[in-house]
Amino acid sequence: MKTIIELISNEVMTAFKEAGYDENMGKVTLSNRPDLCEYQCNGAMAGAKVYHKAPIMIAKDVVEKLADSKVLEMAEAVNPGFINLKVSGEYMAQYLEEMRNSEKMGVEEAKNPQTMILDYGGPNVAKPLHVGHLRSAIIGESIKRMGRYLGHTVIGDVHLGDWGLQMGLIITELHKRKPELVYFQENYEGEYPAEAPFTISELEEIYPAASGKSKEDEEYKAEALEATHQLQMGNRGYRALWKHILQVSVTDLKKNYANLNVDFDLWNGESSVQDTIAPMVQKLKDQGLAYEDQGAIVVDVKEESDTKEVPPCMILKSDGAALYTTTDLATIVERMEKYNPDEIMYVVDKRQEMHFVQVFRCAKKAGMVKEDTKLTFLGFGTMNGKDGKPFKTREGGVMRLENLIRDINEEMYKKIVDNRSIKEEDARATAKIVGLSAIKYGDLSNQASKDYIFDIERFTSFEGNTGPYILYTTVRIKSILNRYKEEGGNLDILKILAAGSDSEKALMLEASKFNQVITNAYEEKAPHKICSYIYELANAFNRFYHETKILAEEDQAKKESYLALLMLVKNILEACIDMLGFEAPERM
Ligand code: ARG
Repeated sequence: MKTIIELISNEVMTAFKEAGYDENMGKVTLSNRPDLCEYQCNGAMAGAKVYHKAPIMIAKDVVEKLADSKVLEMAEAVNPGFINLKVSGEYMAQYLEEMRNSEKMGVEEAKNPQTMILDYGGPNVAKPLHVGHLRSAIIGESIKRMGRYLGHTVIGDVHLGDWGLQMGLIITELHKRKPELVYFQENYEGEYPAEAPFTISELEEIYPAASGKSKEDEEYKAEALEATHQLQMGNRGYRALWKHILQVSVTDLKKNYANLNVDFDLWNGESSVQDTIAPMVQKLKDQGLAYEDQGAIVVDVKEESDTKEVPPCMILKSDGAALYTTTDLATIVERMEKYNPDEIMYVVDKRQEMHFVQVFRCAKKAGMVKEDTKLTFLGFGTMNGKDGKPFKTREGGVMRLENLIRDINEEMYKKIVDNRSIKEEDARATAKIVGLSAIKYGDLSNQASKDYIFDIERFTSFEGNTGPYILYTTVRIKSILNRYKEEGGNLDILKILAAGSDSEKALMLEASKFNQVITNAYEEKAPHKICSYIYELANAFNRFYHETKILAEEDQAKKESYLALLMLVKNILEACIDMLGFEAPERM
């Protein structure tokens, strides 16, 4: 469906043409004075220069042509030459009816569906998920869902960090703790046990221990580097251990992401490309791009127009070990071969921007991607605590994601049982659903690139611009619709009529924006635009709700019209929160 703005623009453009002016001056925008009008057109102002005429004269000519419009119920020329507009109630009702009858409430699927690989999540194997990884998961999941809603093919890849130093650290620490393990026996040729020699909790304790030691102890660090190297070179025992680490850790990660309503199509990682690294490096050398510099292999990626220094891309360290850059490049090659995507997008902390500048330039230079393949870095800001510093536990340690979710759910639970009699079990279940909305909405309502303050108190509030407020509104609408059904009402035969009050009209205007908002939010990869939209929509609904007797309305046609509008609003809210990656409970 065309957007309502397009339709109104068409109407005003025709009037410009009929009045003898350039029709392109007839473009309409939302009004910035909602007290005076709903839409406005500033074209007459621009026309003044072209036609050597006072803008108010042009505006008046145009308004005259709009007198019999079926689309507009008001068109007013105001000084110095603006045209103030209101859409006709009938026309709006008809537009909303059409939305109701369309599959995606007026959103059209892309004419040229694109294939995009979305690289998000990016957890590091064997390290507990912490809040730093939360934003990538939340933002990435939302972009994936938006893209799919618009008919694109979006393939989500978690891109595990499973091939770097942390693997060497864990192996080193395990070696110290359990030297008797068969994995460490030289020349061992037998089978390795199927069972991992550690549990997930052990694993999670081992990594920080090892990482701490390596920072204090040079020798320990050298051992870990050597173990990493050995692993990459194919040491059998280390590979077997690494597989265990991966398996135990991924099982746990899957559980954690499922709790967040986040899921991935691909569970690949840095290690997935281990076999293609050597041929890739060789090719880069053959192309004359990669050269040796102090033992390491590098590719120059700086460009003349650079204003800040872009260091060469290091492809192999002097000991031959692969780096973060190496695996990212090899992954691009692999993704192009397997999926031939139009775009690869990375949702990663914005502090990693330079890394991606280097990787993208190298990939383009070496022809790993096509001329027109888009490589996009969507860098997000830091999640800070109330003190404005990166979010920590009360004790000042790194906050684990599990604990953060636990804290939010606890807070939500308290609010839900407050002043209410509700079964403990139900309250817990609801707290989990609403808690997730608090976290996700709290994050997504900010522009992704900005830092934001994670404020549990504010995010869990039922009032204001929060996830719980949106859900509360959704549940309120659902309960009205349910009550109508319980009273024997039939929701199938409803039809939206022209608005009878200002608050009803205002709600209709908000509802009619849906297709435009979604298309634009995806174009800009800006979930926060969906958040602001549903906040406005929820506010418009609540104003209408407080001013209107819905189920008590005696005029049946009017009542049905209200309910039809409510159904549309509910469907919009649900589609939006689904794109944001959460859902509404049955009751709250
Ligand atoms: N594992 C990385 C980290 O924790 C993020 C990975 C991002 N994706 C990528 N293709 N480099 O910082």
